[in-house]
Amino acid sequence: MAQTYWWSSESFWKKMAVWITAGAAVALIFLTFDTVATITAGSKRVPPYSVINHRIDYVFDEKRNHQVPVIGPEEPLFGKVLSEEEAKDLVTKGKLNVQAKNCMNCHTLLGNGAYYAPDLTKSWLDPAWGSKEVREQSMVEFLMDPSDKLHNAVGRRMPRLGITEEEAKATVAFLKWMSAIDTNGFPANFTTIDQSDAPAAAEPQAAQ
Ligand code: HEC
Repeated sequence: MAQTYWWSSESFWKKMAVWITAGAAVALIFLTFDTVATITAGSKRVPPYSVINHRIDYVFDEKRNHQVPVIGPEEPLFGKVLSEEEAKDLVTKGKLNVQAKNCMNCHTLLGNGAYYAPDLTKSWLDPAWGSKEVREQSMVEFLMDPSDKLHNAVGRRMPRLGITEEEAKATVAFLKWMSAIDTNGFPANFTTIDQSDAPAAAEPQAAQ
């Protein structure tokens, strides 16, 4: 009669299946909470929504060997300082517009989407907006009617998506907030718009 070793018995493998499934479930629950904490606005890498009240820069960090967002002095979007709640509402509205119009069909945001059109993760900082004084207005006008504006010289035109002024402003808020997210240097080697002439209201400090 063939001998049955403990490690080859059926009951051992049944127990193993139960333990491994249970262990993986515990690990997944832990990772879910860990991820949610990391991607929530106001955490280490994702700034609170009220960051749109500040200047945002993207500078090379020698220690990390890539570019990181730097939150600078107060520089409110559309000249109005918003509370955390108001900023959240505006950014959320912009995000909903981006989802509703399916911008990811052509663009990439935070690593998701297509590469037909420029990456939008740091588009708030794109020098193509001209100067920081005209940037907000240029962005709103571009989003409302991009069809007659050759912007980045990529040779492709963005279609008119029927975006209202209100939606365009919210979208700009979303884009500004997104540019402040620490994405581990992605996209890399990104040249940012010159913001140096702004009044130095406070010492710029690195994103926490
Ligand atoms: C059908 C494809 C398509 C869709 C959909 C699309 N875009 Fe574009 N977008 C483009 C192209 C192409 C360009 C480059 C235009 C140029 O250089 O003149 C562009 C450029 C831009 C720019 C300038 C980027 C930069 O940094 O220079 C922004 C901002 C932008 N789009 C935002 C959006 C938003 C927000 C949406 C969704 C509401 C959207 N786009 C949907 C094709 C698209």
